[in-house]
Amino acid sequence: MKNKRLKGVKSGITRRLLTYVKPYRGYVAGAFVFSILYVACVLIGPVLYGWAIDAMIGKGAVDFAEVAKMTTGFIVSVVFSSLSQKFLNNCVNSLCYKLVRDLRREAFYSITSARVKYVDTHAQGDVMSRVVNDVDVISDGLLQGVAQLFTGVMTILATLAVMFVINYIIAIVVVVLTPVSMFVAAFIAKNTFKSYKRQVAVQGELTAHTKELLGGQKTVILFNEEKYSVQKFEEIDQRLYDVGWKAQSFSALVNPSTRFVNAVISAVVGVLGAIFCILTVGDSLVLGAFTLPAFSVGMLSAFISYANQYTKPFNEISNVVTQLQNAFASAGRVFEVIDEPGEDLAGEAALPVCRGDIRLENVGFSYSPEQKLIENLNLDVKAGSKIAVVGPTGCGKTTLINLLMRFYDLNAGNIYVDGVNAKDIPLDEYRKLFGMVLQESFLSGETVAYNISYGAENATREQIEQAAKAAYCDFFIRNLEEGYDTRLSDNVNVSQGEKQLLCIARIMLVNPPMLILDEATSNIDTMTEMRIQKAFQKIMKGKTSFIVAHRLSTILDADTILVMDHGSVIEQGTHAELLAKKGFYYHLYNSQFARGE
Ligand SMILES: Nc1ncnc2c1ncn2[C@@H]1O[C@H](COP(=O)(O)OP(=O)(O)OP(=O)(O)O)[C@@H](O)[C@H]1O
Ligand SMILES: [Mg+2]
Repeated sequence: MKNKRLKGVKSGITRRLLTYVKPYRGYVAGAFVFSILYVACVLIGPVLYGWAIDAMIGKGAVDFAEVAKMTTGFIVSVVFSSLSQKFLNNCVNSLCYKLVRDLRREAFYSITSARVKYVDTHAQGDVMSRVVNDVDVISDGLLQGVAQLFTGVMTILATLAVMFVINYIIAIVVVVLTPVSMFVAAFIAKNTFKSYKRQVAVQGELTAHTKELLGGQKTVILFNEEKYSVQKFEEIDQRLYDVGWKAQSFSALVNPSTRFVNAVISAVVGVLGAIFCILTVGDSLVLGAFTLPAFSVGMLSAFISYANQYTKPFNEISNVVTQLQNAFASAGRVFEVIDEPGEDLAGEAALPVCRGDIRLENVGFSYSPEQKLIENLNLDVKAGSKIAVVGPTGCGKTTLINLLMRFYDLNAGNIYVDGVNAKDIPLDEYRKLFGMVLQESFLSGETVAYNISYGAENATREQIEQAAKAAYCDFFIRNLEEGYDTRLSDNVNVSQGEKQLLCIARIMLVNPPMLILDEATSNIDTMTEMRIQKAFQKIMKGKTSFIVAHRLSTILDADTILVMDHGSVIEQGTHAELLAKKGFYYHLYNSQFARGE
């Protein structure tokens, strides 16, 4: 049952891959034609020099004209086989690289439009590896597979035919002996594959360990854990040595052992052929009901050559099959990414001018059914008001923001903007209504100026600088090596707080009607924090804004403070009202001030 299902999956993948081949069928046809040409040119050689040998073998009777003709033919066949091999490779390369380029693009498009839930619930390393490494495995598999399978199968069929024509009895002997060669090659290939797989897994462990050390270097040093880290590294490294050694020694066996088997086959053909030559000088020999076909030294030499050519592809094909299997496995992983449904952008309601009234009605949500989070949440936010969201870590503040932004679908209830159900507004239009600064700011590896103009492509340099000034980041940008043209790659030191300031500058340019600020929980010095507050106050004027605050001192002037705990709003009111209530907020506030915050 399981096997049947697997087969179904595999044939599905093949069909899918074929749809990607379709636009490039010209290359497939080219590869087909050139591989026929290539095989024909390679196979004609032995016959030509076999004839040449026969034309010069008689004592004092060398037919120079015939030898010259055969030599010319041989040279032409070598030139043509090289040319057709080159064209064949060109066709296969173009086909494979174009195909994987398309696959990679589609996978990337799929990620760009994937739902937040998908990205949140899948390991980034794994998704990255699918788009980059798995696609490479497909290209390697197809490159080898298409080129070698095409020529290999053709070589086998053609040599078989020619051998049967030259001498069907020795041909039968060769066919009977071939499975030995195949068996040896398959046995080694299977073991090599196993060892390589183990090697890749241990390599992964080693990379992960090194990455962990680099990522947590400060912590490792701080706790004097270097020794343990080195020990662990050495242990994995030793295992890598062991499996690597094994894998290499297995794969190093392929050549000598298949060569040995092939040599045995050649020897059998040689001995048998020699006997035939002696028995049938010039003419076939009739032994009762049996006729031994005529055989010559030249034809024997050609035959040995064909027998060699015939066995070779078998060894290669078992390798190719393994590679193709890997390619199919990888294709399955890539298709999973491509098939990931994107966000549903549909929606009909138009929202020409947004005032900024927001109403949450009986909203329910949880990331997983087992763990309840937000239940029956009701909220009425008047346009232009400032809402602060506070509560202990993990209480659902960021989740509330995620729902407001429609990063996740509600499990129950509705959100209304200016009385229109958010679900009815096209998603891309809806998101334009909000400017948001997340807990973890995202900056792309481009220039500072580009990052500020993110979402406002047409902004002039002047507007960008103005926005930066308004968001209090002009001074630190000017201190960067290349000012606004500094690329924000990993080695540029921009603190978490400065990143948030850059994100605020970004919003200043776009100027959306509603704002969301999810304060960073850590890594922000008081000065930067004050700047963030001031910058945010500036753009908040007249806009509906949500601030997720970790430092209560920053939200004293909020129109409404929502106090959350375990996914629900447990208290709601102004700062003064909540203090007077002497409830959760009162204790939260006092505890922060007691700690001197
Ligand atoms: N993508 C997710 N998948 C599953 N569970 C999640 C996900 N994001 C958050 N959670 C869980 O949901 C709960 C609320 O998380 P949330 O991020 O909303 O808390 P928070 O109030 O913003 O906390 P903090 O103050 O630390 O930022 C937590 O228990 C958290 O573990
Ligand atoms: Mg949070």
